[in-house]
Amino acid sequence: MPNSTNQYLKPLTTKINSNGNLEIGGCDLGDLANKYGTPLYVIDELTLRSICRDYKKAFESYEKVNMMYASKALCSLATSAIISSEGFGFDVVSGGEIYTVYKAGADMKKVMFNGNNKSADELLLALDLGVGRYSADNFFELSLLNELAKSKNKTADILLRITPGIECHTHEYIQTGHLDSKFGFDLTQIDEAVELILSEYTNLRLHGLHAHIGSQIFETKVFEDEIDILIKELARLDEKFGLKLNEINIGGGLGVKYIESDCPPSTYEIADVIISSLKNSVQKYGIEPPAIFLEPGRSIISTAGVTLYTIGSSKQVPKGRKYIAVDGGMADNARPAMYRAEYTAQIANKPDAANLQNVTIGGRFCESGDILINSIDLPEVDEGDILCVFNTGAYNYSMASNYNRVEKSAMVLVNNSQSDIIVNRESLDDLISHDVIPNRLKLNA
Ligand SMILES: Cc1ncc(COP(=O)(O)O)c(C=O)c1O
Repeated sequence: MPNSTNQYLKPLTTKINSNGNLEIGGCDLGDLANKYGTPLYVIDELTLRSICRDYKKAFESYEKVNMMYASKALCSLATSAIISSEGFGFDVVSGGEIYTVYKAGADMKKVMFNGNNKSADELLLALDLGVGRYSADNFFELSLLNELAKSKNKTADILLRITPGIECHTHEYIQTGHLDSKFGFDLTQIDEAVELILSEYTNLRLHGLHAHIGSQIFETKVFEDEIDILIKELARLDEKFGLKLNEINIGGGLGVKYIESDCPPSTYEIADVIISSLKNSVQKYGIEPPAIFLEPGRSIISTAGVTLYTIGSSKQVPKGRKYIAVDGGMADNARPAMYRAEYTAQIANKPDAANLQNVTIGGRFCESGDILINSIDLPEVDEGDILCVFNTGAYNYSMASNYNRVEKSAMVLVNNSQSDIIVNRESLDDLISHDVIPNRLKLNA
């Protein structure tokens, strides 16, 4: 089966140029660092478009597929515009994500609003902007959304988010009858929800079921089990309520290659499993094949992104490790500090240098846990060298903070030797722009 972009460690256009430097999208990474400063998020347009096309091609044999990108992985106007131009819709989880994809020109009918505690204001925004689907997460939301839709004289098109009893921890998973999760309806609560929709909530229109089983998944069998549970439930609801539900959303979760030893399946492999499981399960339970929605995030955007840092201080602990400090860290990439995520990197201005030594890359934030890479072999580095950390497109910028009152980093898009700023670097004035000093505290008042 063909490879897909999520199986690569680096953006597809990464190479060593005639100056001996790393380049991506035809742009020398040292030049990018000089021009835009560091830390700098860099997104390779070709890699991003390539994975969108891998997904579409992988699923082309199943007619009723709706591809939606999970915006939580990285949400910006430019990336949303690219993904939308590839024919994708969006999974959104907040008013901010709804507003961003709307402003980027997304077809709002292809947007699904997820989340376990959507506010009334967010739901009203979604209703006003014509969001196509709501993944209704709990009884409170069913009642709230129905009321709000009624107040606008609208009908909200919904799927019920269910907890299928599959818990996935990247490389292994367990199946339980019931899962203690903050998301979705337990399997035993579905009938009550359906009864309420059919009898009382006349401003809701139920189309199907939604589940999401985990993230950074390397197994394909979990999708088989998930689909079987969803199809079995559709068949059961048909038999019990005469309901012809014709949509399932199986969530996201396909993994990416952060380090050499990671071997995620390709989009083609998971498409094969998903489509054949669907065919098997609909035959087994005797229902019409439903439309299927997918909402991958990480596997769409992660490989397209790298982060550039400037190397500053370094220190050798006597009889201990060598630490090299960069000008970013846990505020632009929270994943290593949050859950010991691993990354790999190269020195952009001497990717080929020999005499490797094992070092630890530390961030600049005031936490001992702010370690970007615990152990990596790099050549001798000098202050001012540019470190390129790979596979930072997903859950880096989207989780960024202003910890230590540091300005958030800029983001550039590269393609065909051209670079365009797509998120401006924050300024010191941006940092204080929401602060207010009451008059009585002003020193010169
Ligand atoms: C409901 C839902 N859908 C999709 C995703 C995207 O997952 P991933 O980025 O692993 O593809 C998530 C991630 O947490 C999620 O919670």
